[in-house]
Amino acid sequence: MKHHRLAAVILCTIVLTFAALVVCAADHDNKSAEFRNQFIKDFQRTGLNTTPGDAMMLRILVESSGAKRGVEVGSASGFGAINMGIAFERNGGHLDTLEIDPRWAKETRANVRKMGLEESVTCIEGDALETLPTIEGPVDFVFIDAVKSDYLKYLKLIEPKLKPGAVVVGDNVIRSARAMRDFLDYIQHSPDYDTVIIRASMEKNDGMSVSYKIR
Ligand SMILES: C[S@@+](CC[C@H](N)C(=O)[O-])C[C@H]1O[C@@H](n2cnc3c(N)ncnc32)[C@H](O)[C@@H]1O
Repeated sequence: MKHHRLAAVILCTIVLTFAALVVCAADHDNKSAEFRNQFIKDFQRTGLNTTPGDAMMLRILVESSGAKRGVEVGSASGFGAINMGIAFERNGGHLDTLEIDPRWAKETRANVRKMGLEESVTCIEGDALETLPTIEGPVDFVFIDAVKSDYLKYLKLIEPKLKPGAVVVGDNVIRSARAMRDFLDYIQHSPDYDTVIIRASMEKNDGMSVSYKIR
């Protein structure tokens, strides 16, 4: 009887150790550069997603500015979020990505999980015009990529929480310039920001505004 119990304890220990090793291996796997690069390469992007060139530009901006608290307005399926998420993970920071459509929010969360970025990226479901005021500050990186005519509204809602030195990026500022005229006028002429329009990718024949908050 004693021997049976001992054998059962040993067997359980072996099974649990094996299961723990499998979980650790899976966890390690989706954090490896090889896995993540391949995941990004194979990502089934839709027309809504940022281009790989823009997503890499965003990642470099987060990394080079050392940003720790980021907000993305408009997640779609999370292509931008996972690319920026890698940089926030490296910086020891965090990105909140805001999405109004529950199906996209679900897909973004799934992609964040597959990339092992759950600790660095959170998808907040709801209308950004309502969720932005609930974001905890200070914030040092913002990527605006939802309704083009609402860019200035999004910025104004997060602006009180922006640190001097924060970086604000607006997507599609060339092709949708007319719809976001008020945003572009503000960000390009306010003495509080240095702003440049860049084209990091030719894929959509579009560009991003990159602004540095001076004070
Ligand atoms: C251009 S896509 C975002 C692409 C994404 N940034 C990326 O890098 O792949 C715009 C997204 O904004 C979402 N959206 C539109 N209005 C919104 C709002 N008021 N609040 C939050 N998300 C919104 C849309 O559902 C859509 O998924």
